[in-house]
Amino acid sequence: MKIFIDSGNLKDIEALVPLGIIDGITTNPSLLAKEGGDYRQILKRICDLVQGPVSAEVVATEFEGMMREGRDLAKIDEHIVVKVPFTRDGVKACKKLSEEGIRVNVTLIFSPTQALLAAKVGATFVSPFVGRLDDVATSGMSLIHEIVEIFNNYEFTTEILVASTRGPMHIVEAARMGADICTCPAAVIDSLFNHPLTDVGLKKFIADWEKAQAALAGKA
Ligand code: G3P
Repeated sequence: MKIFIDSGNLKDIEALVPLGIIDGITTNPSLLAKEGGDYRQILKRICDLVQGPVSAEVVATEFEGMMREGRDLAKIDEHIVVKVPFTRDGVKACKKLSEEGIRVNVTLIFSPTQALLAAKVGATFVSPFVGRLDDVATSGMSLIHEIVEIFNNYEFTTEILVASTRGPMHIVEAARMGADICTCPAAVIDSLFNHPLTDVGLKKFIADWEKAQAALAGKA
């Protein structure tokens, strides 16, 4: 399963990319607004760092505006994937942009039928929001299960990009279900590294080694 960072923060991205586990980045208007500054420059820098798909979202809500913004975002770098919301205009824009060779991520997916329609119009990625469904007492991961099942019945090339992840169990479940990608805040990716038994085990290996070395030095 691919792992994307859900962030527009360059420091977070610069810290995680050298680990070799990051396959791409997702941003949204809220994340980029948080960073301030020139969003085009930030997106370009992210593309240079990651060399993988970088989702950048349109803010227009009608078809023509989405097309204009989508084409413009795609010019920033070859790694840009244009994100459009799942609306009637978004679906229309997804079809047209995809026909023009621009990759599209259809976002704000909250039902299996929305994912199906986005796949039908050639979306490269669909982004179901699991955490926001959990927030309203509806199982986000059940939605992923349904989308995986539906996509497996056909020959869609659309990838399932699990978004709005809030903790490691979302990643575990997504991987078990065979989702293609999880996009996660940097803190969630950091948490994937932690296990107390790893820390205890490493401490003991080092201590045993040093004890043995000290004993050998004592004999010499
Ligand atoms: O980028 C879209 C998505 O991952 C947002 O997550 O935590 O704002 O629901 P969240």
